[in-house]
Amino acid sequence: MIDVGKIRQDFPMIVNHPELIYFDNGATTYKPKAVIDAICNFYCNFTSNVERGDYETAIKADRAYDNTRMIIARLINCEPREVAFTANITATLNQLAYGLGKGWLKKGDIVLTTLNEHASNLLPWYRLEKELGIEIQYIPVDNHGVVIMDEYKKLLNAQVKVVTLAHVTNVMGALQPIQQMTALAHEAGALMVVDGAQSVPHHPIDVKVLDIDFLGFSSHKMCGPDGVGVLYGKYELLDRMEPLLLGGGMNARFTSDADVILKNAPIKFEAGTPNIEGVIGLGAAAEYLMSIGMENISAYEKELRAYFAEKLKELDNIEFYNPNNTSGPITFNAKGVFAQDAAGYLGASHIAVRSGNHCAKVLHEVIGTDQTIRASIYFYNTKEEVDRFIEVAKNISLENAVGIFF
Ligand code: ALA
Repeated sequence: MIDVGKIRQDFPMIVNHPELIYFDNGATTYKPKAVIDAICNFYCNFTSNVERGDYETAIKADRAYDNTRMIIARLINCEPREVAFTANITATLNQLAYGLGKGWLKKGDIVLTTLNEHASNLLPWYRLEKELGIEIQYIPVDNHGVVIMDEYKKLLNAQVKVVTLAHVTNVMGALQPIQQMTALAHEAGALMVVDGAQSVPHHPIDVKVLDIDFLGFSSHKMCGPDGVGVLYGKYELLDRMEPLLLGGGMNARFTSDADVILKNAPIKFEAGTPNIEGVIGLGAAAEYLMSIGMENISAYEKELRAYFAEKLKELDNIEFYNPNNTSGPITFNAKGVFAQDAAGYLGASHIAVRSGNHCAKVLHEVIGTDQTIRASIYFYNTKEEVDRFIEVAKNISLENAVGIFF
């Protein structure tokens, strides 16, 4: 179980800003002191580049950097060599679309996805549609964004080469049946690419149990620093995949007549000096989450979300879009009030939420609106914060919310 009072003391943003209710964890999360200390330690005690130096601090940096690969391997149950570091999940998904476009996909092949997806898992595939002639088809979802399995089964055939979707969607919080979907995708001969940005920080994830082929996620949504993402892939697939970025660190040798030999995966996906402090910070973040326990985090958030949903349902001035989901954000509008005005009203009461389309710009085809307010919780949020939120939210109206901005 979680001792949330104790946990809150780990986060300087909470300790230093007790008045602020932070419900924008889908956008980014607070960082515990352990992460900040790990980054400071690198800066203060062993700043060096990695994979290039033969002196003491460089070797220390190499070890700390590679240690994160081992930590992430423990977090998602894979081998360290199946973990590559990228700039963020957007970079991961761009790498995957590029790599699959080079080695696997050809004109006429089908990629299945949903209308729920974040821009970062649609735009790279749209480019392949234009440039390579693949076809994107959308798996029907219900009004809470959850894949309708019977419809998914109908779409699977030998032409489907990739299925790609968010494990937990970033607006509706739809927790998709990834394990069952992956088994069916594999039966049809397709690869499964999973956007784990909103699931890895909140739930235990075992890539072997799910049997997914690729997974991406971002450090900053799981208590880690910005500018770091993870690309997980089954090793034989990573080994076959062409990297998007070429440059230093990832090549074994090259000659003036352009004969280039790359290093093996995962290093071949890490061109240039990586975000070393970010990767070290991500390791500290993942250790921190595992010390609390991903099962505990998931269970605590499920209960807090259910409490939040029950309270929000009681408000007459609120239209609530995903009351039945058990994971991810609480998504709503104040009736008749533009989402950004309502978010500004909440902001004026020190409540941080996100408003707008949340980068899921085709989701309106499912929920009928492209402007919502999203309250996204994490394991350091409390029922008391939800109660304070409800007290403020019940008063949002056209009269008092219009024009409040910072
Ligand atoms: N992708 C992040 C979100 O959903 C920024 O808010």
